[in-house]
Parts: sequence; C-alpha cells; structure tokens
Amino acid sequence: MKPIKVGLLGIGTVGGGTATVLKRNAQEISRRAGREIQLAMVADLNVDRARQIAGEGVTVTADGNEVVNHPDIDIVVELIGGTGIAKQLVLKAIENGKHVVTANKKLLAEYGNEIFAKAQDKGVIVAFEAAVAGGIPIIKALREGLTANRIEWIAGIINGTSNFILTEMREKGSDFADVLKEAQRLGYAEADPTFDIEGHDAAHKLTLMSAIAFGIPVQFDKAYLEGISRLTSADITYAEELGYRIKLLGITKRKASGIELRVHPTLIPEKRLIANVNGVMNAVLAKGDAVGQTMYYGAGAGAEPTASAVVADLVDITRLHTADPEHRVPHLAFQPNQLSDLPILPIDEIETCYYLRLSAEDKPGVLADVTRILADADISIDAMMQKEPAEGQTLVDVIILTHLAVEKDVNAAIAGIEALPTINGKVTRIRLETLDK
Ligand code: HSE
Repeated sequence: MKPIKVGLLGIGTVGGGTATVLKRNAQEISRRAGREIQLAMVADLNVDRARQIAGEGVTVTADGNEVVNHPDIDIVVELIGGTGIAKQLVLKAIENGKHVVTANKKLLAEYGNEIFAKAQDKGVIVAFEAAVAGGIPIIKALREGLTANRIEWIAGIINGTSNFILTEMREKGSDFADVLKEAQRLGYAEADPTFDIEGHDAAHKLTLMSAIAFGIPVQFDKAYLEGISRLTSADITYAEELGYRIKLLGITKRKASGIELRVHPTLIPEKRLIANVNGVMNAVLAKGDAVGQTMYYGAGAGAEPTASAVVADLVDITRLHTADPEHRVPHLAFQPNQLSDLPILPIDEIETCYYLRLSAEDKPGVLADVTRILADADISIDAMMQKEPAEGQTLVDVIILTHLAVEKDVNAAIAGIEALPTINGKVTRIRLETLDK
C-alpha cells in the first residue's frame, strides 16, 4: 500500500521530535498502522534549520499554504501554536479535505466548535491527543477507554511549568521568580510564561477534557482562572503542617445545575497519589461512575513525549481515514447532535472546601468573632491552627480549614471577617479538594 503522506507546519521542539520518532520507529509504526507514514513536507520560516532536521527527501518551504494546498498531502500536522496563522492553515487544510493533527490547545479551546463543525462537514478528522498533557494518552482514555461511564469529575495537574515551580518552592524553599527563570531555561515554559503561571495553559487543556467528559461544547471563555503567582511560601508551609500539598489543579465537575470548570491553586491531602506528582510531570484523575477513580501520569511536555501523542494520532488516522465518517469516534466523544447545553457554573456557585489564613490580634474574643461569622454563614470548620506571635509582635496567623461550602457564602464570610477591627489586612483564601469520592 502506498505511504500516507504527512505535511508538518512548524518544526520546532515537538516537530523535531515527531520527525525523529517517525524515522526511528518507522518499522514498528508501519507494522501497527498497516502502511508507511511518511513525512513528505515541512513548512517553517527557518528553512535551513528545517531542512537539517527533516533530512533527505522531505520538501521544505517557508509557506504553510504550500503544505495545506498540496494534493499529495493526506494529513497536516499543525505545530505552530496560537490562533493566528495556525488557525487559518488548519481551516484551509480542512477545507481542502485533509485530516489534521494538532497540539494546539489554545486554538481548540477557543475555536474548537467552529473547527470541529467544519471537519464534520468535510468528513475529515481533527486529532488532538498532543494538545492535552503531552505524552499522556488522556484524550484516548476519556473518549474511548471510559466511554461506558458517566464521568463525574476530572482533576489534573496539567501544567508542568507551574508544577515545577510549586515543587521547587516546597522542596527547596526557593523564590517564585528564580524557579520561573529556571523553568524557562529548561524549555518547559510557554513563550509567554504568564500562560503557564496564571492558569491559561491549564484552562485550555481542561476545557477540552471537560467537553469530552460531559459532551458539552468547548467553552474556554467561561472557565475560571487563578494562577500561582500570588502564592506565598508561608501558605505552602502551613498547608504542609496540616497534611496538604498545594498544586495548580484544573477541575471540572458535573453538578445537577451545571458544570464546574476551574483552574486554581488547590490544597490536596498529601496522602493522595496526585499530591505526590512533582516537578514537570503531569497527572490526571478521572472519576467515572462505573470504574471509580482512575489516574494517568506522565510527561506533559517535551519533544518526544509530545511527539508520542502526535504519532499516535497519525497512526489512528491512517487506520481510520477510509472508514465511513459516521462510524469514527466523534471529535468530542459524543455525537455532534447530542451535545448537552448544561451551563458552565459561575465561580460563585461552586462548592468546595477552603483554606483561610488571617492575621489576627492576639486577644480574647477574636477567634469567637471569626467563628461566629462562619457559623452564621453555615460554614463548618474542619480544622484550625493558630501560630504563636513572633517575638515582640501582637499579630498571629490563624489558619482555618472548612468543610464543603458554596463560594459565594465563603466570600461573604471573608468580607465580614476582614471588616472586624481585630483582623489585619486581607484574608488569604485557597480552595481545597479532598478528591476522596
Ligand atoms: N507549557 C506547558 C507546560 C507545556 O508547562 O505544561 C505544553 O503544554
């Protein structure tokens, strides 16, 4: 059978890894796919470098349009990133009847509905395993492996850069800014590191998982994002004293009234496996009603781990592209006419546990006032810790962990506590997930 021909848009870190893996494992890959998968064309602005990486026999151009318009190309692999030229080229490739593999989580989280509808219309596949958690086959697992289940929730460490920063801050007591520089030097961080640190990257990935898990359209604009840049080492230490680790978690949960879709620093009991996922590694916990909790762990970034996902999609398409489009796995796991209109809940409506840190005057009645405000708001306290005041100080740090509460009630209670004359400054609030059921 003649080889399936691949055109690559962008041959940077992941593109280079893809070329290497396709070449190194060519035999194994064609034994699995049923035919050879051949890198035929590469488009990259740096043509000389691209030629070097792609090697002999690969046509190299600076113009991506040449790839997406070329009649010999069966599958276009988009590894440019962003929503500018990458979006134009992906839509053009689909228009031209080509299948697409992409690692571009931003593009799909923001424009996925348009892109998948167009692909459906044209009978082509848009595969995106590499867009979520790098080398971990989480899209395949959620879309196919767990297809019997009613998914209840997903919680994931899906940004390696922020996990690396939090791990270094906890283990070495390092400063946030220094660790960020190190992550950038090691090549983990996105071009704009605010994407990693402020939760955008994780929210893009979470949006895609949420859509697949619950059969809803992609709705990145409704995701709640809170990053790690305001976390202090004091909170990391206090959390640890209480038996918790702080992780940047992406959480999506099905509730009767809608779907929670949120990325924020989260306390997790240290005995949970996911609390011990350190450094640049990623992990996703998925809870299905039949299977219970399942966890997927692996490298969330890097040349060959991400290439592993890209090539898996290439093999999938090679096997499936001759199948009747109606019988392929739907892009978002559920049939396109069966998507649910369950709303994404505003952050005020979510329900979780909370870590509160307040700076209080060390005198009688202060804690009684605080606990009364919490009790009046129907917020139940799970644990409490008061530190001794530092030498010569009258202010003490008080840490309170709550049981499940609704966010808007907690916000109202925090406003009440901050208004007390015995409380100094703002209350620090970090959400806490027990991840036990
Ligand atoms: N910058 C991302 C991370 C890798 O740190 O996880 C690619 O998604």
